[in-house]
Amino acid sequence: MVNSTTLKMDDTTVLSLKELAKQTLKNNDLGGYTVPTHGLYPFQWNWDSAITALGWMKFDEQRAWQEIDVLFSGQWDNGMVPHILFHKDSETYFPGPDVWGSNRTIKSTSISQPPVVATAIKKMLETATDKALATEKVKHLFAKLVDYHLWWYNDRDPENTGLVVTYHPWESGMDNSPAWDEALNVVPCVDWQYTRRDTSHVDSSQRPHKSEYDRFLFLVDFFKRSNFDSKYIFDNCPYKMNDIGIISILHCATKDLLIMGENLGLSDDRCDYLAQRVELTEKAISTLWCESSQFFYCRNVLTNTLSMVKTSAGLLSIYAGLTTTEQAASLNNTTKEWIEASQFSIASTHPSESCYEPQRYWRGPIWLHINWMIAVGLAESGYNDTADKIQQDTTELILKSGYYEYFNPETGTGCGGKDFSWTAAIALHWLLD
Ligand code: GLC
Repeated sequence: MVNSTTLKMDDTTVLSLKELAKQTLKNNDLGGYTVPTHGLYPFQWNWDSAITALGWMKFDEQRAWQEIDVLFSGQWDNGMVPHILFHKDSETYFPGPDVWGSNRTIKSTSISQPPVVATAIKKMLETATDKALATEKVKHLFAKLVDYHLWWYNDRDPENTGLVVTYHPWESGMDNSPAWDEALNVVPCVDWQYTRRDTSHVDSSQRPHKSEYDRFLFLVDFFKRSNFDSKYIFDNCPYKMNDIGIISILHCATKDLLIMGENLGLSDDRCDYLAQRVELTEKAISTLWCESSQFFYCRNVLTNTLSMVKTSAGLLSIYAGLTTTEQAASLNNTTKEWIEASQFSIASTHPSESCYEPQRYWRGPIWLHINWMIAVGLAESGYNDTADKIQQDTTELILKSGYYEYFNPETGTGCGGKDFSWTAAIALHWLLD
């Protein structure tokens, strides 16, 4: 783990950072689910909750499992776990449930988010001190997790290509990554007026532009007008990406799910089917690899072109175990050079890209949960030095700036929302243990 001598972090500092992190989660607890931060994000977000549960696990295991139970209470009949669950009304967020238009008992959006939840659950099971509770919870959640993963493969890869598609930049979790620019550009803009709420909480220089928001909303409308019909959307959605981030996170989580199932004696035919999907992805992934630049990119499925911008999503391929030995070695070199390219690492867009913006959301800033995944992947591939360096940089960020939503890689300044749940949770899970 982190070498506290190098970082000059004494026990008192670690204790007070831990206390602050726990307090952040408690303050963001709305009774069974944790908001990412008050005001800016007043609901339950899918991958935030999965990561946040890892933080709760360090001091309240019951509450950690409850986070996941509540997340799955919003699962759709078709298996989808939505990207946002609108448990309670709020005036501080746009677009709310009416704009999304889904009429489920628990109101929600109609897209999902990076499915890191099975991986989080596996870690929770492994680290639980109350093993009986953990085993009971996993047994209860297992079939729902299988439903969720089947939904990803069947709904988002109905033609068995091995690579699922995403229909919205918000589904990727990396909302305005430059990897979506070209594909998003051809999506029409909405022709109705609306008032954004995000820019009343956070400076607009750290948020997406209006031109992007207009298109984000067009897609939201499109899903509603399509009556959320899977086949229709697959055939007609004006935005379809093979996102290397989602593909990697899904791949890792499916393998984790299968291991859990085997260990607990829960495997069934549906698990065999998931195992086949895992194999398919392993065969197809090379189509996202560019040999000349030695990197994994996202693909615009509608034009069949790779989106040639280096974003941290490409590094998640190591975390998923989707790389060959040579590719892993090459990506480790790229990561080392990426780390050197800014004061703090890892910038979400490589600093040498012309679209790099160190302050703006997913176009440059550092996100702690992504650093964690990349470091875990590098360490698992034997690149411990690179993984340690990422962990040290990440620790410096929280020492310097606390638990912000994301961080400027040039200055280490915290950006976006304050008192952020997943940042505090990653600190508890990964940095302060
Ligand atoms: C932003 C992020 C997304 C996250 C959400 C809540 O929309 O891009 O990944 O889930 O905020 O924190």
